[in-house]
Amino acid sequence: MHTAHSPNSLHMQLIDGKSTAAAIKQEIAARVAEIVASGGKRPHLAAVLVGHDGGSETYVKNKVLACKACGFESTLIRYEDDVTEDELLQCVSSLNTNPDIDGFIVQLPLPKHINEQRIIEAIDYRKDVDGFHPVNVGRMAIGLPCYISATPLGIIELLRRYAIPTRGKRCVVLGRSNIVGKPMASLMMQKNYGDATVTVLHSHSEDLKAECRRADIIIAAIGSPAFVTADMVKPGAVVIDVGTTRVPDSSRERGYRLSGDVDFEAVKDVVAAITPVPGGVGPMTICMLMLNTLAAAEKKYYAS
Ligand code: GUN
Repeated sequence: MHTAHSPNSLHMQLIDGKSTAAAIKQEIAARVAEIVASGGKRPHLAAVLVGHDGGSETYVKNKVLACKACGFESTLIRYEDDVTEDELLQCVSSLNTNPDIDGFIVQLPLPKHINEQRIIEAIDYRKDVDGFHPVNVGRMAIGLPCYISATPLGIIELLRRYAIPTRGKRCVVLGRSNIVGKPMASLMMQKNYGDATVTVLHSHSEDLKAECRRADIIIAAIGSPAFVTADMVKPGAVVIDVGTTRVPDSSRERGYRLSGDVDFEAVKDVVAAITPVPGGVGPMTICMLMLNTLAAAEKKYYAS
């Protein structure tokens, strides 16, 4: 809506991850129908879920639903919080060798007594549709075919589909996690993806606000609700919000709401384009996992 308080909002573009993801899932489902019609095997994703963390439960539930929408088989394997590392390694090993499973994920975070990195490295990189195994991370970093971590890939796809210019632009990535910040910065830097000038900012960065203000594109992935305020954003910049923190909200039936890393209500009036939370990056992440699973089933990156 155009009001005296939001002079730019008439031109602001809402980047709709939900509808973009729905369109891509339809494309995937069409491809699956072709594969099955020509006698091929239906893609099959397995997910391993440990414990009952609310966020993880929701993500995995949505991944299983996305499999249905794409025409994939899915298998959910659950363990309680007290599962041992050996039991999980056993599970990973059997998924690695199960010829019916094209790809699988182990939902993170895992309980503290489990060495997460050890589990990730036990996954056969040819079935690592999360793109977390060092082989995939390394191949991504040098631009070789591989599974690319779903959140950064989903953001690249959103920028592409919304024709947002990235080449030569100043891009700030807020956060340096293995799942989002690091691969995001790597992709935004690479010629075949962002081809941008990338700055990674984190909890120890000096002049963080000023660095953000110089950016044409801000990708916020620090997990701190409403961290990016209007005074940190250059007018006309593009803001991508990866945050999904559950904050208590007694006015909601479930007792919480999802908060992004961006103060959306204030920032939306400054930007050229912005992703909402929910309905922005989140649905794209799950959708890219589906695309990676389709690639696994079609042996797109690795022969088995
Ligand atoms: N936890 C948060 N994001 C992810 C993800 O993309 N994959 C897995 N396996 N765990 C996560």
